[in-house]
Amino acid sequence: MSALPLPTLSQNLDVLFDVNTLERRVAELGAQITQDFVGRESVVLVVVLKGSVMFAADLARKIDLPITLDFLGLSSYQDAKETTGVVRITNDLSRSVEGKNVIVIEDIVDTGLTMKFLLENLKTRNPASVRICTLLHKPARTRVAVPLDYVGFTIEDEFVVGYGLDHAQKLRNLPYVGVVRG
Ligand code: IMP
Ligand code: MG
Repeated sequence: MSALPLPTLSQNLDVLFDVNTLERRVAELGAQITQDFVGRESVVLVVVLKGSVMFAADLARKIDLPITLDFLGLSSYQDAKETTGVVRITNDLSRSVEGKNVIVIEDIVDTGLTMKFLLENLKTRNPASVRICTLLHKPARTRVAVPLDYVGFTIEDEFVVGYGLDHAQKLRNLPYVGVVRG
């Protein structure tokens, strides 16, 4: 596959997970979710905007069940380098999740603060169950442990972009996951 024309930052990018690797792992996650949720009523994928959009679009097509999709916009207040744990809902779910089996779809769990906020928030809405599916996990950075039910890849403490993940809102459209060097 030919590379997209990209901003200067791409010169300092190394490919961490290429298109084929992502596709294979997403298919495995989809198969596992299908197996785990078969026969369950009202399964809803709660897609966390914006970083999870590419992952969720691919994953949903690998889940062979009558799921529904909904979207939740979250914005975390950042200090220089990382989230402060203060999270704001910028776009709420369009429907109630009461009594539903929720699978949260995240791009990356870093400190865990965003996911902790989201879990607590979702629990107040009385879902039947909540599971978390994240494409990436950076365990070295954990500040609060949250139970991650499905993890695509565990990565080192490196800043990654692409396949939905951004650097200052850009590079989400890279088809692979890359590491920013230097
Ligand atoms: P948290 O630290 O687990 O709360 O993660 C907060 C958010 O920071 C994630 O949902 C991502 O949007 C973003 N984030 C964390 N690490 C990275 C990264 O390596 N690349 C791009 N975004 C990241
Ligand atoms: Mg995110």
